[in-house]
Amino acid sequence: MNLWDERYASAAYYYGTEPNDFLRDHAKVIPPGGTVLCLGEGEGRNAAFLAGRGYDVVALDQSPVGLEKAARLAKAKSVRFQTTVANLDGYRFEPNRWDGIVSIWCHLPSAMRSSLHRQVIVGLKPGGIFLLEAYTREQIRYGTGGPKDVDLLPSLAELRRDLDGMETLDGTERERIVQEGAGHGGLSAVVQLIARRPA
Ligand SMILES: C[S@@+](CC[C@H](N)C(=O)[O-])C[C@H]1O[C@@H](n2cnc3c(N)ncnc32)[C@H](O)[C@@H]1O
Repeated sequence: MNLWDERYASAAYYYGTEPNDFLRDHAKVIPPGGTVLCLGEGEGRNAAFLAGRGYDVVALDQSPVGLEKAARLAKAKSVRFQTTVANLDGYRFEPNRWDGIVSIWCHLPSAMRSSLHRQVIVGLKPGGIFLLEAYTREQIRYGTGGPKDVDLLPSLAELRRDLDGMETLDGTERERIVQEGAGHGGLSAVVQLIARRPA
């Protein structure tokens, strides 16, 4: 059992059962009714939200324990989405498959993140949307959640470099209050990005 399986082993939902604020506020930019892949989706709160908005969602995570809870959350919220247990290290996307790819706090080592984001471009349909929120390196000083290893914490410039060729619709580094279950609580340093694969 890895760290994430252990973290998800209790009955409580570690980041709660409500969606991430940035996703909730901007989900409508993803083509309505489209296919959406949620990367590192954990216990399924964002997938459940998107499914409730009419998207055809797959929640991917390396934690089977998290995804079992995601399936229970889907039932409790009377929505349907698929779950896929997979490791994003070296992950290859089916080309032109997704109308949206969502990455909420999916913190990966920089080399893995870079290669994954090149793949995101492959996996999106033309006109498809990539939506991400992550902590930045400044978050280490805030101590309100997120990884402690700076290599896992991207800057906007790094994200834009890895997503070269995508059209940036919104790209911001900012402070905001994040309240999500027991896992995230308080003023935080985040990067938010919405990018579109050119049609
Ligand atoms: C901070 S949690 C975020 C969960 C979810 N996105 C949310 O906002 O509630 C990070 C998630 O990324 C997943 N993860 C980390 N490394 C991964 C990898 N290499 N492959 C697949 N999932 C990974 C973890 O299992 C964990 O569920």
